[in-house]
Amino acid sequence: MTKITYIAADGGRFEVEADNGSTVMENAVRNAVPGIEAECGGACACATCHVYVDPEWADKVGEPEPMEEDMLDFAFDVQPTSRLSCQIIVRDELDGLVVRVPERQA
Ligand code: FES
Repeated sequence: MTKITYIAADGGRFEVEADNGSTVMENAVRNAVPGIEAECGGACACATCHVYVDPEWADKVGEPEPMEEDMLDFAFDVQPTSRLSCQIIVRDELDGLVVRVPERQA
């Protein structure tokens, strides 16, 4: 199990135990984290699962693939550590990961 902390736009914190191999988006939806809409269900086709990776975690999480990068163009208020959470696979090295949910989705 890997711990992930989601910080909602209103500052609310959601600490979640996530299964490795699942995605950061799936765990947000499963735990009713507000602000993650995930309209396409994780197909990298909607940009409504946008999160800001905490800068301290950005290197470990890594850069988006080109397809994700293209979709991020449709996200609201994209920042340097923006990622689509359906494209972040939970794994041991992400234990303790912190992501913030933007004020709104696309
Ligand atoms: Fe649609 Fe992530 S859920 S792009």
